[in-house]
Formats: sequence, structure tokens, C-alpha cells
Amino acid sequence: MNDLKPVVDSALADFAQARTPAELEDAKARYLGKSGIVTEQLKALGALSPEQKKARGAEINVAKQAIDASLVARRAELAEAQLESRLAAQALDVTLPGRTRGTGGIHPVSRALERIEAIFASLGFEVADGPEIETDWYSFTALNNPDNHPARSMQDTFYVDLKDDEGRWLNLRPHTSPMQIRHAQAHAKKHAGAATMPDVRVIAPGRTFRVDNDATHSPMFHQVEGLWLGEDVSFRDLKAVYLDFMQAFFETSELKLRFRPSYFPFTEPSAEIDLMFETGPLAGRWLEVSGSGQVHPQVVRNMGFDAERVIGFAFGSGIDRLAMLRYGIDDLRLFFDGDLRFLRQFA
Ligand code: DAH
Repeated sequence: MNDLKPVVDSALADFAQARTPAELEDAKARYLGKSGIVTEQLKALGALSPEQKKARGAEINVAKQAIDASLVARRAELAEAQLESRLAAQALDVTLPGRTRGTGGIHPVSRALERIEAIFASLGFEVADGPEIETDWYSFTALNNPDNHPARSMQDTFYVDLKDDEGRWLNLRPHTSPMQIRHAQAHAKKHAGAATMPDVRVIAPGRTFRVDNDATHSPMFHQVEGLWLGEDVSFRDLKAVYLDFMQAFFETSELKLRFRPSYFPFTEPSAEIDLMFETGPLAGRWLEVSGSGQVHPQVVRNMGFDAERVIGFAFGSGIDRLAMLRYGIDDLRLFFDGDLRFLRQFA
């Protein structure tokens, strides 16, 4: 036991208290640095006699070795602790779900549309596309609408602040029926003077617009127009095609169709097509799905065909309505609100 024992104890306590390598090196300097306590003791040796120097030197050395040993041990401890905390901070939890790039889904109305196109393609129908901004002639006149027909009114149809060559306002097409005329006209031109009339079989799906907004109507909605013209096409063909379409679209043969007499200026006779499911949640109720009819002779002439030779049928169905029935949706607006909670269910 000598006067260096408290120095050694104090050094060991300081080292133990150091929380970082920097704190430890500071503590080391207080004992072993240039003017550290132990260093000062070594410097003081010079003033002693050779015997005293030997004895004191040995004491200081023992103290210094104890301090050194403690320092080395504490350095290792701190380095270890630092490594551990770094590893903990960088730890990877491989069980966490990865961050994926969001993948889009196909909108339910687009899905319905794709199915409709595929079904009619399999029945030999072409798919045509037409303008959403139409002339008065294509939307109304060519379809045999008299000039004062209410469909032309601003309460029903959106108009564009631009006039066509006839000086009439352009409209946002209120139905896909103008495409009957456009498509048939192109055929009539191509086959002008031909001895036999080739079949014109087409569907024209697309956006349509009307001044209307509630749970079952939207100012923008989707229709699909169907047209089959030929020399020997009858209402029977319409019934068969539409039944095939409904059975394929709803993937069931447990449904019935009803053709209910109606009126459209562009067909004669005209019928609403009602659908009834025989099974499932909607079973037993007649649901209106389409307008239809035999193309009016005046419309056939407006298409550029000889109405004595060419006959055909047409229909116009609401695509949104079909998608609502297929997916059990009761509010049309859900399709167009863009709410991802709704849309993700179809992705
Ligand atoms: N264009 C009609 C509508 O929007 C639907 C329609 C009825 C289309 C009879 C047709 C048809 O092609 O023949 O209400």
C-alpha cells in the first residue's frame, strides 16, 4: 500500500465511467498524458537518490501497468459496444413486407368493355371507334330524329360552342348511335355497285354524354352500339346475338330476355331489351339493359344503302349498367369518383 493506490483507483473509476472512446482518451490523458498524474510522478524521480529512485520507480511502474491494463480493457469494451449498437441500428428485418411499386389495375368499366369486345369479336363483329364530339346530322338527323325532337334540347344534350358546316352546334354525342351511320357509310362507299351486299357487323363502344346526374346516371357514361346489316338479317338474329352476348357476359345460361315494344326514331319496330336472372341475388326481376330495333328504312338510306335491299338490326346498351349488374354495384358514381378503396377491389 502506497500513495499511488488512490491514483490507480481513481483512474480505474474514471475509465469505467467513460461512455465513449473520446471520453476514455480524455481520462487517459489525465493520468498518462504529458502532464498526467503518473507522468508527473515519473518526472519527480530525477530529484531522488539512486536507491530511492529504484524503489519509487518500481512502485510507479506497478501503478502504471495497472492503469494501462485497465485502459486497454476498457478500450476493447467500448469498441465492442460501439460495434453492437451500430449493428443494431443497421439491423434488417427480413420478415417485413417489401416496398413494392404500386401496380395499376384495369377499371371495372374498361374490364366490362374488354369483355364485350371479345364476345362480339367471337360472333364475327368488328369493333369501331368514333368521335365523341359529333355533328347534329350524325347524332340526330341521320338517325331520323325530327328537328324538334326533345333529345336535341339543351336539357338533355351538351353542346360545344362551335358550329358545323351546316351552321349547327356540335354536340357531345348523347349516344353511340351516330357510329351506326359513320361505319355503315364507309361500307356503302366501299361496296357501291356491288352485286351482293356484304354483311356489316360492328359494335362501337365508347363514351357518351347527357345532362343527367344521380345514382344511376352520370353526365359521362358508356354505351356500346351494335349493328348488323345485310340482305337477309332479321329480328331473330338480334334475339340470338343478344342472348349469346348476355350469357357470355354474365357467364351463365340461367337468364332470360324479354323484348318489350318501345319507340326510337331510328328503328321500326323498336324494343327495349329486359334481362332476368333465374338464379343469384338479382333473380326474378326484369332489368332494362338495352334499346334495340330493326333499322328504320330512312336510316338505311341515310347510311347510303338501298332500303329495298338492305335490312338490319341495331341495339344500344349501357356498359356501366352491365358492369354494375355484373359486379353488384348500386351507385354508378362510384365508377367515376376515382376512390382507390373502391377501385382496388377490381385490381
Ligand atoms: N341510342 C339509344 C339510347 O341511347 C339506344 C338505342 C336504341 C340504340 C335502339 C340502338 C337502337 O341502336 O336500335 O337510348
